[in-house]
Amino acid sequence: MSEKRAVILDALLPDDKGLKPVNDIICELLEQNGYDVLIFQLNELNLNHCIGCFGCWIKTPGVCIIHDDAQKIHKEIMQSDSVVLVTPVSFGGYSSQLKKIIDRLIPNILPHFNYYHDEIHHIPRYLHYPKLIAIGIQDNSDNHETNTFKLLVGRNAMNLKFPDYSVEVVSNKDSLNTIRNQIQNLFNRNDKWPLKEDILPLMSLTMPEISDINFESSGKALLIIGSPKTKKSSTSAVLGNTFLERLNIKGWETESLTLNKNIMEEKGHSHLLSAVDNADLIVFTFPLYIDALPFLVIKSLELIAAQRMALKNLSNKRIFIIVNSGFPESYQNSLALSICNNFAVKCGFTWCGALAMGSGEAICSGQPLNKGNSFSRPPGNHIVNALNIAGDAIAKTDPVPQSVQKLISKSPIPILPFSIWRWIFIKMGNLWWQKQSNENGVSKQDMLKRPYEVIRDS
Ligand SMILES: Cc1cc2nc3c(=O)[nH]c(=O)nc-3n(C[C@H](O)[C@H](O)[C@H](O)COP(=O)(O)O)c2cc1C
Repeated sequence: MSEKRAVILDALLPDDKGLKPVNDIICELLEQNGYDVLIFQLNELNLNHCIGCFGCWIKTPGVCIIHDDAQKIHKEIMQSDSVVLVTPVSFGGYSSQLKKIIDRLIPNILPHFNYYHDEIHHIPRYLHYPKLIAIGIQDNSDNHETNTFKLLVGRNAMNLKFPDYSVEVVSNKDSLNTIRNQIQNLFNRNDKWPLKEDILPLMSLTMPEISDINFESSGKALLIIGSPKTKKSSTSAVLGNTFLERLNIKGWETESLTLNKNIMEEKGHSHLLSAVDNADLIVFTFPLYIDALPFLVIKSLELIAAQRMALKNLSNKRIFIIVNSGFPESYQNSLALSICNNFAVKCGFTWCGALAMGSGEAICSGQPLNKGNSFSRPPGNHIVNALNIAGDAIAKTDPVPQSVQKLISKSPIPILPFSIWRWIFIKMGNLWWQKQSNENGVSKQDMLKRPYEVIRDS
């Protein structure tokens, strides 16, 4: 019997025609490389999406509080040597089907923060993690999407503590032989970690590219709130509503909706799509989940793109993105912005820029930024200022000045260098997780539990 185990997370849907042979090649190659293979056909499983409650860190350490098939996947991943992701490429990211389970992988790491490659990340829960292998499948080759996908897999490997990774994007128009050649060395090859300098250029990719279409300086703005949090207010909602208020003051008609209400039920889909159809400006606001967009947001992009592609006469619309992450470095949001940018291009939306904020949970955590009715105090004033400047520019159909991204990215404590803010973030953040766990009766020791640990010969 083989000693190596591979788990395949297969996100292909029954109507992803012509992709089955790719799957067969992957299984055949894994077996040739000496692996026992276990396949999870994701569309056949009972899987819910992450609701951002952090229960898997502070209530039941290492185990997600939602009881469905995800626990079995977590266990099998931690007991395997390689995890293989197979997914259609959705705007340069994973399809929503795969993203649903990727978002659910945070129980396998610890909440505590530390430096890693000079960035802040979480620390490992387990002693051993498998290798991550990803195969993205495209209908038509697209270099931007391919580049985003490859960087995303590398960043996910860093974030989720996979010690090695390799990634390939194949086109289902290619012959099976070409595909086989592309993926056969994935099992023996390790790709390079994408560091800050590799992803930073994607922040400016997303800067204004206002085309020569004449847009009206007033109209209808639709705010789409993509945080899946259900129990408390989200930072995404606070940021999005602050921005919307500014547009309102400038004479825009505004409407907002949450994806929580509109994605999980079919009748919500038509509400979302008609709201998008009726808007001149679409504003997405969402949290960063595993270096990308949360499941709910990806799913909404897939629905909107499918509708846009079915229409012949596309009305002109503009799109603006507000994303907030837990880690303090705002550039960690750059792959999420790149995915949104690819989506905008595909849908024929005019990109009017984006704002990416770090330390969302630490600075805002769903609380109003204008607490005490003062917009002039730290730690929220520079964020409100940035949103207002962006709002004013967009209301006038001007490009959003590049300096606004710099403003929202700065240290929230005046004069304090960003490097010291990061140090404080780690210390305070680790104490905060400990306090939250204690309040749930979880001791310091219990926070570190490894429920799916496999004992290995060293
Ligand atoms: C499943 C999950 C994955 C996350 N992944 C990341 C990540 O990759 N990078 C990061 O900086 N923050 C990450 N976060 C933190 C959120 O981006 C952060 O808590 C954010 O402020 C939540 O915003 P919201 O209140 O709008 O939901 C993650 C949170 C969850 C629940």
